[in-house]
Amino acid sequence: CCLLLALALFVPGDAASRKCDLQGLWRNELGSNMTILAMNTAGTFSGSYHTAVAATNKQILVSPLQGVQQHPSAKGHGTFGFTVQWHFSDSTTAFVGQCFVDHRGKETLETTWLLREEVLSHKDTWKATRVGTSIFTRIK
Ligand code: BTN
Repeated sequence: CCLLLALALFVPGDAASRKCDLQGLWRNELGSNMTILAMNTAGTFSGSYHTAVAATNKQILVSPLQGVQQHPSAKGHGTFGFTVQWHFSDSTTAFVGQCFVDHRGKETLETTWLLREEVLSHKDTWKATRVGTSIFTRIK
């Protein structure tokens, strides 16, 4: 029995050592959904982002995202970044993050984002950028 247990815990290929695949449907703690489409060989990807919240009062629209993952063929915990070009506001958001897989095989994208809003004068630059963190879990 101990041999079986040791094998289950240490054999490569268990859940914790699984590669994290960015492609799929993800949701964060705000209830925002994003779809990441298949990555190409250079590690670049596109997708769409449906935010649950906005800093503007305009009607929220699903918006495109463009990103790149570092070393897509390495250990699989690669860092990545993507930008969202909001289709209902003048702002842009840039996310950077890393994908993790826990011992049960659950994938999370741990990200930090910057949301830059348009201001009419550079004198207002000081208030133009918000920063935050966000964790996405796979829903499909
Ligand atoms: C805007 O308000 O001008 C565009 C929408 C911004 C939504 C932000 S991006 C960071 C944070 N995480 C989300 O899922 N939504 C908000």
